[in-house]
Amino acid sequence: MATHELIEKFQQAGQGQVFAFYDRLDAAGQAQLLAEAEEIDLEELAQLKTTLLGKSAASVDLGDLTPAPYERLPEAGGDKAAWTAAKAAGVEALKAGRVAAFTVAGGQGTRLGYDGPKGTFPVTPVKQKPLFQVFAEKILAAGRRYGRPLHWFIMTSHQNHEATEAYFTEHGFFGMAPHKVHFFRQGRMPAVDFDGKILLETTGTIAMSPDGHGGSLRALERSGALDLMEREGIDILSYFQVDNPLVRCIDPAFIGWHVQRGPEMSSKMVPKAYAGEKVGHFCEQRGKLVVVEYSDLPAAMQEETDATGGLRFIAGSIAIHILDREFIRRMARAADGTEALAFHRADKKIPTVDAAGAAVKPAKANGVKFEMFVFDALPFAKNPVVIETGRADDFSPVKNAEGKDSPQTCREDQLRQYARWLKSAGVTIATDDSGLPALNFEVSPLFGDDAESFAASWAKLSPKPEITEGFYLA
Ligand code: UTP
Repeated sequence: MATHELIEKFQQAGQGQVFAFYDRLDAAGQAQLLAEAEEIDLEELAQLKTTLLGKSAASVDLGDLTPAPYERLPEAGGDKAAWTAAKAAGVEALKAGRVAAFTVAGGQGTRLGYDGPKGTFPVTPVKQKPLFQVFAEKILAAGRRYGRPLHWFIMTSHQNHEATEAYFTEHGFFGMAPHKVHFFRQGRMPAVDFDGKILLETTGTIAMSPDGHGGSLRALERSGALDLMEREGIDILSYFQVDNPLVRCIDPAFIGWHVQRGPEMSSKMVPKAYAGEKVGHFCEQRGKLVVVEYSDLPAAMQEETDATGGLRFIAGSIAIHILDREFIRRMARAADGTEALAFHRADKKIPTVDAAGAAVKPAKANGVKFEMFVFDALPFAKNPVVIETGRADDFSPVKNAEGKDSPQTCREDQLRQYARWLKSAGVTIATDDSGLPALNFEVSPLFGDDAESFAASWAKLSPKPEITEGFYLA
């Protein structure tokens, strides 16, 4: 589009302020601002103004919510034979090369406050392996186990894309074949003030931010990832977040439940640890599976108990999903909006400029960012399945610099897991009441990434090593 046409379009949409300082910019600055402006869908933004900013903005629909059904683990009363059959089906799909791994790594990681892509954050107890390496080794291990090396898709943001790619190159892709690792950027959305006016970050740049993990559906399509999957015969995408090193990146039982039930999207749940735990809640609403965020679910419902005295809305979401390739394509292409993911608003402090172009660092929220959430795809999926997983073997995210969900809690959860594996392989190891071993040591995912693979590798060791401070089992 010609420059003047683009500027005019913004003016007509009441967004002319984006170009308020255009004449002051040099040619390169003007080109950059124009490129950013071109990324913006003004109609989408106008619609968001009505749906999310206006007086009649819709609030979250809490009508007709009931707890979502889920497949219980055998140890929690589930059907053991069904789990065994699911695992066998998952192994078959893996051996047939139908599965790829997918990490969403486009977040800003503001709570952790770490400078650099979050996946480069050192996380393991002894070797201080970065998150990306932990996942790479789990994906490598699965490829070896099932005789089919897996592809790995990684969604980055504009901000961290180059740094992420460079990091993998620098570290030899952690042993994976470079042609199996695919990086693509997610989309961006402009931040707006409370009247819906696009905010400038500086006189020559728009305040743009990643469009949420739900943006992954569009980005997978736009980047050609879905076509690549199709060419490679892959129809199952194992989705996980970049901040959770405990995740079973490739879990045959989960994949098997998905394959057997034939849904378009499947999810893992853990029973909430306590009523007010800050997780999304799997619920059913008029025949659809939905995730209701803790911030939207009234406390009375979060605390409600059932006839047995247990929490009624017990199923917490831990952001682990499986997505069917053609479902992603359908969602990504939903041009008429009926099946498109809705945006959520988050009120934030957004650095901007004043009318004279001077920098403003707001002390309180001055605007809104828009994000899509991947779990909002669930109500559009046919036959979605939710399965239970053990928290200790799937979920310990690094979100905050200190306290809950921090590098320390995550490190301790990794150590507890190693100690459980050792104990179940018959090794005596001193732990406290929480299962935390007294020693700091580490197990490589290439040695074992669950109790079963650990036990198999351990059985082959002769003589058995002694677990000492700083020991690394690889
Ligand atoms: P979080 O909700 O923890 O957000 O993301 P965040 O941006 O990483 O961290 P804070 O809130 O600023 O501290 C959960 C997962 O979703 C990814 C993140 O990279 C993480 O794996 N994500 C989030 C994206 O890929 N894109 C986004 O736009 C947002």
